[in-house]
Amino acid sequence: MRFAFFDTKPYDKPSFDKFGGEHGVKFKYFETKLNEDTVELASGYDGVCVFVNDVVNAAVIDRLCELGVKVVALRCAGFNNVDMKHAFGKIHVLRVPAYSPYAVAEHAMALLLTSIRRIHKAYIRTKDFNFSLSGMTGFDLHGKTVGVIGTGRIGRVFIDICRGFGMKVLAFDKYHAEGLEDGDRVKYVGLDELFANSDIISLHCPLTEETYHIIGEDALAKCKKGVVIINTSRGALVDAEALLAGIKSRRVGAACLDVYEEESELFFEDFSGHIIEDDILARLISMPNVIVTSHQAFLTEEALSNIAETTVKNIVEFFKNRQCPNELCYRCGAAEDCKTGKCF
Ligand code: NAI
Repeated sequence: MRFAFFDTKPYDKPSFDKFGGEHGVKFKYFETKLNEDTVELASGYDGVCVFVNDVVNAAVIDRLCELGVKVVALRCAGFNNVDMKHAFGKIHVLRVPAYSPYAVAEHAMALLLTSIRRIHKAYIRTKDFNFSLSGMTGFDLHGKTVGVIGTGRIGRVFIDICRGFGMKVLAFDKYHAEGLEDGDRVKYVGLDELFANSDIISLHCPLTEETYHIIGEDALAKCKKGVVIINTSRGALVDAEALLAGIKSRRVGAACLDVYEEESELFFEDFSGHIIEDDILARLISMPNVIVTSHQAFLTEEALSNIAETTVKNIVEFFKNRQCPNELCYRCGAAEDCKTGKCF
């Protein structure tokens, strides 16, 4: 099997070469992202392997089909960059539903601790032999209330970590995870109650029509003054303009962002020395209480290895059986209810 691999980074190759080599899947690595301008590169391949910022819209899907490409193998969990409705009946879409929920949940906590204990400031100060503590006062996490939106794999690991810190958890999800509630320590509540009572809010739900801008002007108006917002999920869960306004008005105490609404043209690339056109992002980054990382929450050795292993397994299984448990279906929206791709 031959796959065109888009948006390649140096850290992708070792594990994909290893698992691909072991199972007869050959990857041709392209640095460019997949989109309408680059789709021709997929000519002659059985499938394309894509990541979060590759564009798999209707036009790209139609051209892939014309080129005889049969499979889109996502090497990520989220699939908001794929027009699933258009893909239905035309091309098969496989994904990696889980590779290391620990990687993302631990990164969310790393961002939170960095932010509230001013580690980012301390690092720069002590590098310059400035040992002053003024402006460095943080707050204890112990006893604070964290609102967790989305209690799937990553959300539940994040909740475990927060419990270890002695925090109370208010959870919100469309579907309640069995056995998660634990008296006053972890309880499901409605969104308004979560907004009104959380000192910190962390997002762990997928980006859908329902969750688009779940943190916007209205939500922030309902939040406690000084709330800390953590987004390690998908950028468009947060209305970046409303967040900036919330920071300026001091309603938002801090923001920890691993993802950003308009990240696709910027994240994963080196723009130092360039003029950044995105004024909202530039202003957010300039704030002392905003930390931005470049969609790196997944980036651990364990996760990279698991991503490559599952992607290759998905491909091998699909070409062997014409179905795969990690195939996505637009009707159910996720593989969980569609174990065999039977909705096709
Ligand atoms: P998951 O599928 O295990 O859990 C998602 C949870 O969100 C489920 O419990 C689901 O019921 C819930 N949900 C769905 N719609 C909802 C709604 N309208 N309101 C509230 N909850 C809703 O997914 P997992 O593995 O925990 O990943 C969560 C998200 O993390 C992914 O969708 C992806 O966007 C993001 N992610 C980010 C990474 C990064 O590097 N920053 C890496 C991996 C995932």
